[in-house]
Amino acid sequence: MQYKQDQILRSVNSILENKAQAGHDINHTLRVKDLCLYIAGIEGGDVEVLEACALLHDIGRPEEIKNPGTDHAFISAQMAPGILKAAGFPAHKVESVIYSITNHRYSSKITPTSLEARILQDADRLDITGAVGIAMTFAYSGAYGHMLYHPDDPMCKKHKPDDNKYAMDHILSKLIQLPTSMHTNTARHIANKRNKFLLDFIDQFKQEITFVREREL
Ligand SMILES: [Fe+2]
Ligand SMILES: [Fe+2]
Repeated sequence: MQYKQDQILRSVNSILENKAQAGHDINHTLRVKDLCLYIAGIEGGDVEVLEACALLHDIGRPEEIKNPGTDHAFISAQMAPGILKAAGFPAHKVESVIYSITNHRYSSKITPTSLEARILQDADRLDITGAVGIAMTFAYSGAYGHMLYHPDDPMCKKHKPDDNKYAMDHILSKLIQLPTSMHTNTARHIANKRNKFLLDFIDQFKQEITFVREREL
């Protein structure tokens, strides 16, 4: 029996609608799904598993926002089976979807054992590289009232990066490192290309904040 992909997407849409964390809205989910399928086209992997885990990987975010300290990866993994079952998703593939969702977080520092879970991690991280990564960073930091950069140390040379206070600290300590964290060659290649744009952005940013008041950064 063919499962109903549209039904999964409708469920995800209704969960994330107007409740997603800044930048992590349905557009992020759809970009991650597209990236997963692109990477799988070159690296292999079960396309049905990838499509499902990409669509469902962040559905726990609204709950995590309501209850800080919880983990949206685990919440998403708990919510997913009901949605998959209702859509008629192949039962023998559910476990693989759940494993990928549970282990998708960058901060978990886990190298998953399945190809699909590694591709989901890559796609999720790829979506915070380059121009979109910059946009996501500032959307997030704006929503939480963070400053653009540390007033005395904008390039984060003297202080420990604090991305709970400064958007540039997030870019300089996390985004810039993302290409080295990719599991697949395909994702690493895309991430390296996008990182060139990120480095240009940092360079331009530096020039602009020192344009009038010259100082050593
Ligand atoms: Fe996530
Ligand atoms: Fe995500």
